[in-house]
Amino acid sequence: MIICSCEGIRDRDIHAAIDWMRASDPTAIITPGKIYHALGKSPDCGGCMKLFVASMRENPNLEVPAELRGLRKTNTARETRYEGRTESY
Ligand code: FES
Repeated sequence: MIICSCEGIRDRDIHAAIDWMRASDPTAIITPGKIYHALGKSPDCGGCMKLFVASMRENPNLEVPAELRGLRKTNTARETRYEGRTESY
């Protein structure tokens, strides 16, 4: 099925790119931009992005590697009070 009519990208092209990227780098964060780049193309109108991302999500190799999950720190009460100003203000 054609996903991106501007560049003629099919769903199987997307899956092949994801599988190739995951095989070459198991810790890679795979984005639509990286898939376009891997296919040697660039998005034009952007109208396909919703379908493009939905097609990406169908691939089991898309998920974020386990070692990269949970890297975002949660805000503690002390961090939320800090406004970035020095004490003299
Ligand atoms: S349909 Fe994909 S960039 Fe236009």
